[in-house]
Amino acid sequence: MAFSIRTRLTFWYVTLLTLSLIVFSAAFSYSVYRISINRIDGQIASVAEMMVHTIVKPSGEFFLPRDFDIILGRFFGIRTAGHYIQLLDAKGAIVARSSSLEGRYNMPLSKEAYAEALKGVQTYENVKGARRFPIRVVTKPIIFKGARLVAIVQVGSSLEGMEDIFHSLALILGLGVVAVVITASVFGALLARKALKPVAQITAQARKITAENLNERLEVRVSQDEIGSLAVTINEMIERLEASFNRIRQFTADASHELKTPLTILKGEMEMALRSKDDVQYMQTVIASSLEEIDRMSYIVRNLLDLARLDADKEALERQPVKLDEILAGRYEHLQRFALDSRVELVMLNNAPCTVMGDAVRIGQLFYNLIDNAIKYSPEGARVEISLDAEARQAVVRIRDTGIGIAKEDLPYIFDRFYRVDKARTTALGGAGLGLSICKEIVESLGGSIEAQSEAGKGTLFIVRLALMDNSFSSPLY
Ligand SMILES: Nc1ncnc2c1ncn2[C@@H]1O[C@H](COP(=O)(O)OP(=O)(O)OP(=O)(O)O)[C@@H](O)[C@H]1O
Ligand SMILES: [Mg+2]
Repeated sequence: MAFSIRTRLTFWYVTLLTLSLIVFSAAFSYSVYRISINRIDGQIASVAEMMVHTIVKPSGEFFLPRDFDIILGRFFGIRTAGHYIQLLDAKGAIVARSSSLEGRYNMPLSKEAYAEALKGVQTYENVKGARRFPIRVVTKPIIFKGARLVAIVQVGSSLEGMEDIFHSLALILGLGVVAVVITASVFGALLARKALKPVAQITAQARKITAENLNERLEVRVSQDEIGSLAVTINEMIERLEASFNRIRQFTADASHELKTPLTILKGEMEMALRSKDDVQYMQTVIASSLEEIDRMSYIVRNLLDLARLDADKEALERQPVKLDEILAGRYEHLQRFALDSRVELVMLNNAPCTVMGDAVRIGQLFYNLIDNAIKYSPEGARVEISLDAEARQAVVRIRDTGIGIAKEDLPYIFDRFYRVDKARTTALGGAGLGLSICKEIVESLGGSIEAQSEAGKGTLFIVRLALMDNSFSSPLY
């Protein structure tokens, strides 16, 4: 069975408190007991000492005082009741005793105490007298000439009063512990509920937030405490979710729009063709134009698919040693035709041997998109220069053109999806504005970087940096 945090918190708090109180009470009672016993031991020991001085004369003779009660009285005041003295011979038989030991009262000599006395050792112990209550007794042997036990003095003090005190103490402590624990449980539960109330509120609020109302936020009362920072963290998470939801919405809208335009053109052309029944030449023109639109559509769809794949799983990209120079040379050859048609001069300045870890197909796509743009956005007679250099553990690809360039205000956005400087352009030349965003995804998934420098009317430079594979770094024998 799972208990709530509130119950568990209260339970542990109360258990800990109870245990601490019990340990404290026990330690406190024991200390009081030890202090009292030590005091009593001191008292009875000095009476015993006194007794010995009184009984044994310096000559070694014994002198029995008439009344032990006088000695008791001298020490314990008039309250001699509960205090006892007795003198025993070397065999442990009683020789004389105080009046408090007459009648039903007695103070037995234990075997252990007698054995110790024979050895000349003074002992303290609790013995049970004829009454219910124990007596604290000191057993002091009297040794004559340092060897023979001649007599034993015993002084006792009843623990009756002390037991009473201890019973009361136990009762007070016991009741105190119970009262404190009950109060603490009630207040503990209330406090825990109060402390956890904001969590319940956050849970209730968070439950209401769905994809439809991602603009809503949790209420944050105090942002400094743990719960406040939890709410702030959740809010930040919702914010990120909202941003990516919006990006996806925007992306879907843009994608639909991009596909709708060629579809509308296609539809219009087909309808016209239907109407011009016998005009074969016109039909051919329409079909050719339609094919162009279809090409454009499948190009966009292909790019969308690529982006979706890169989004879904960047890790799925292959990681194999790839010779960048070979791929670049391939793309360069391939795009010469396009450059020729566009009357743009495409030249390779340098193609240093470089190997990186990556996906050959994607890297080919990256180079293609960049060179394609450079040619596409350059007027006739312009020049596009390509170079690949190994610089400080990096392969650096530069694609520079002397084309139309990109205005300062557009430069920060060119890697965004569907971003085009010339928004009105819908001819087959202009793409959907996905090429550079694909480039960025590819470069980033390979751990590299891509940047653009441009000046409107003068030209543009794209620089791609990818980490070189260790063994290919600056190896002249490659
Ligand atoms: N070399 C360049 N010179 C001038 N402008 C450029 C150059 N490269 C990119 N651009 C601008 O950046 C925009 C985005 O480029 P991107 O490659 O992403 O899209 P696109 O070329 O329009 O379409 P797609 O690549 O999807 O066919 C382009 O529309 C163009 O305006
Ligand atoms: Mg492009």
